[in-house]
Amino acid sequence: MAHRTIVAMPGDGIGKIVLDQAIRVLEAAGFHANYVQGDIGWEFWCKEGNPLPDRTIKLLEEHKIGLFGAITSKPKDKAATELVPELQNKGLVYYSPIVAMRQHFNLDICMRPCKTFKGNPLNFIRRGAGNTIEEPLVDTMIFRQNTEGLYGGVEWTNPPQPVYDALMSHSKFRDNFAWCPKDELAVSTRIFTKKYTERIVRAAFEYAKEKGYKAITVCEKPNVIRETSGMMLKVAQELSKKEYPGIQVWDTNIDAQMMWLTKNPEDYHVIVAGNMFGDIISDGFAGLIGGLGFACSAQFGEGGVAVFEPTHGSAPKYADYEVPIVNPIAMIASACMMLDYLGEAEISNKIQRAVAEVIQDGKVKTYDMMKLRGCPEVIKQGAASTIQMADAIIAKFK
Ligand code: NAI
Ligand code: MG
Repeated sequence: MAHRTIVAMPGDGIGKIVLDQAIRVLEAAGFHANYVQGDIGWEFWCKEGNPLPDRTIKLLEEHKIGLFGAITSKPKDKAATELVPELQNKGLVYYSPIVAMRQHFNLDICMRPCKTFKGNPLNFIRRGAGNTIEEPLVDTMIFRQNTEGLYGGVEWTNPPQPVYDALMSHSKFRDNFAWCPKDELAVSTRIFTKKYTERIVRAAFEYAKEKGYKAITVCEKPNVIRETSGMMLKVAQELSKKEYPGIQVWDTNIDAQMMWLTKNPEDYHVIVAGNMFGDIISDGFAGLIGGLGFACSAQFGEGGVAVFEPTHGSAPKYADYEVPIVNPIAMIASACMMLDYLGEAEISNKIQRAVAEVIQDGKVKTYDMMKLRGCPEVIKQGAASTIQMADAIIAKFK
């Protein structure tokens, strides 16, 4: 069979380091593909005035699968000053290439798994009854709506007159905000559509069905945010009744869920939420299983494009170490999500087993797993380098 082609988008900083190692692990595990380089990130903003060049979009349109490291983003004014001289003062405005990619390909479904690796020194522990120490086994998949809601980008400072007039037609707005001068108003909207709400909720049900879970949890705030959170809960309840009768809908509020995070995280296996609450709850759960070095994700859309990436950023301060120290596991786990998506579960399981064994053995640990502050000296203090961690995982294949 012809090899698959994957668009490898290293991005900036440690994105390049961890992506290289993930590809090395994929190869060693027996997954052979052609990798084409997808340019993305700060370098291309500075040189070309576009952090997501059209050629990268074309590659994704053609090959459909992206493996992405991380990018560096900076505020708009800083971005303008870092452009090459020929591009300065041309009115170019920086925008996040990640958000642009999500919107261009309508990658509306984001999955963020958080699963405890036994033996990870960063695992969350808590005090149980009788002063015992408990280490809950977290195994949660968070389904985050990725394109709408508060991150949908529909917002204004000093809103245009038609928007202002529309707001004034709402009695609550008149009661609470009419006193404020228009040019002192900032408005960020939270728009949910039934179609995309249903898609994310359905994805959660399908996952629960496949894994045999008896409930999904809608983690929103419908008692206060009645229209949007309310829509998601209602959609879930209707789907449960009509199409997934064996799967219950649990309803938690985001604030309470954050409080329960440390109390009983092992009780939640499938959580679905809008864009912002999904972001918050997935970071919360990631913290229980070791944080950024372990948090992976996948994004899909209707157009058949899928992009897999760790949730961490480009950690620029660690980008130029002679011996790289960052943990490659989040990137490797993202690559495993890609394998699952491609129907390569066997290779994915082999890699996941190897990662689990290395962690359980406890001999090879990156600096974060030793709770050290990141600096070049961590290697002398016994921390494994990024490459040594990948080597240890590969060694388990033999
Ligand atoms: P970051 O995730 O890059 O780093 C935060 C801290 O987490 C690091 O200083 C490091 O201590 C730790 N860390 C991150 N990845 C790690 C790994 N693989 N192993 C061990 N430790 C790790 O977030 P920060 O510092 O807020 O942002 C740096 C840049 O990354 C910014 O330009 C930001 O805009 C961008 N960013 C990009 C993201 C993406 O590409 N998806 C996501 C988040 C931030
Ligand atoms: Mg986040």
